[in-house]
Amino acid sequence: MKEKFYVTTPIYYTNGQPHIGHAYTTVACDVLARWNRLQKKETFFLTGTDEHGAKIQKKAQEEGKDPQEFVDEIAEVFENLWKKDKLNISNDFFIRTTSSSHKAAVQKVLQTLFDNGSLYKGTYKGLYCTGCEQFKSENELVDGKCPDHGTLPEEMEEECYLMKMNRWQDLLIEKIQADEFQIRPERYKKEILSFLQSQKLEDVSISRKNLSWGIPLPFDKEHTTYVWIDAFLNYLTGLGWNGDVKNIPAMWPADLQVIGKDILRVHATIWLALLLNLEIELPKSFFVHGHILSGGRKMSKTLGNVIRVEDLLEKFGTDGTRYLLMSGGTFGEDLDLTMERMVEKYNADLANGLGNLVSRTIKLVGSNEFLKTKKIEIPKDLHGEPIKLFLNNFNLHGALECINDLVKAANKFIEENKPWELAKNNVEKFEEVMKKLVIDLYVISDLLIPFLPDTAEKIKTALETKKVEPLFQRVK
Ligand code: ME8
Ligand code: MG
Repeated sequence: MKEKFYVTTPIYYTNGQPHIGHAYTTVACDVLARWNRLQKKETFFLTGTDEHGAKIQKKAQEEGKDPQEFVDEIAEVFENLWKKDKLNISNDFFIRTTSSSHKAAVQKVLQTLFDNGSLYKGTYKGLYCTGCEQFKSENELVDGKCPDHGTLPEEMEEECYLMKMNRWQDLLIEKIQADEFQIRPERYKKEILSFLQSQKLEDVSISRKNLSWGIPLPFDKEHTTYVWIDAFLNYLTGLGWNGDVKNIPAMWPADLQVIGKDILRVHATIWLALLLNLEIELPKSFFVHGHILSGGRKMSKTLGNVIRVEDLLEKFGTDGTRYLLMSGGTFGEDLDLTMERMVEKYNADLANGLGNLVSRTIKLVGSNEFLKTKKIEIPKDLHGEPIKLFLNNFNLHGALECINDLVKAANKFIEENKPWELAKNNVEKFEEVMKKLVIDLYVISDLLIPFLPDTAEKIKTALETKKVEPLFQRVK
């Protein structure tokens, strides 16, 4: 059977417009999905939106909208942003947690958990951060505030259903240690292990009594399910799963779940425990990436350092934006972006570097009768070994650097050989130089496919038609 690759992004909250962090994770997963399709793996790429919970209900209220109407509008903005003319994301499905099939599956799961004794009724008392949609322990707070949202959590004491957690603690440690379930980069594996080894996992509240914007528990309609339980199940319902534990989709388990470091702990505890309770296989791996900062600081409206995806698209286009996001820093670590640096990088690598290489080469080819008509032999497997190594190790940034080095070397080769002069006084050498450049361009365009799919296609067309439009215009 063909090897499979199932990759997921987190599903994003629809309490506001998509931001650059959402774009970043989604483009990275798109690159990996496209890469694995090129490797002939049967690939499924899932993304979507997380549409229930207190945070969203509150936001809809503030805007004077019915929550469903409110999330419908925002989910549409997300879906549009992934389209071909925007970020060109090749997801195979877009899951919405307010879809009736998802809701029905979640209810089925809740009933199964209730019936198999994983849940019990009790009360939960704690400090709740609505921004995170999570209870916070005192030692996670800084000056009493949530470090991610800068807000004071609310004290809450509510009757709820709880999921037993601590029965899974040793098993989780064992599976993570043995890499049966992989967490990458390595330091995040260490972080989770030391968390799991240092304290007893508390049982998790899986329902809310006074929150209407959620999926009702089938066995107690006064409660709605905790938004994270609802959200995690998207990874299965997005494959068309109806909630029947005896009938798991063939694409499961996920091979790779990409998440930001902000949501590692909930994933590594509640999500995995949920699967263990249901006796469903765990995903194969998580890849955890860092956060985008702007000028060294967290982006915020007050600081005025927010970088908007729409602005990036307008300035740099689809592939320019994808390039700048993926080359902005090492995948896995925090990255610091500023508009100035992005403009500089775009002009250097794309307008001057790649754009110039393509237009010069094609123009020179087009000016020569022999090259215009002759078909140049192209080597078959163009994906060089180094790129394979980079991509199979999630080094997206390294792969782009490697491609950029090829572009620089080819531009240097043009300058050293001055083919426009050879065309006049040494046709034989001219053709030899140009053949090398054409092959270089084929190799470069092939390597670019997962990152800049449109550009890759345009370069191949230019090589075939011997005609070229400028690929990247310089920007200010
Ligand atoms: O947490 N830099 O949704 P969310 C890089 N619905 N990536 C960032 C980022 C930044 N500054 N900010 C956000 C939720 N992200 C839940 C998830 S999954 C079952 C439910 C990315 O809208 C990153 O991937 O807050 C992060 O984990 C995710 O967006 C959080 O999106
Ligand atoms: Mg968030």
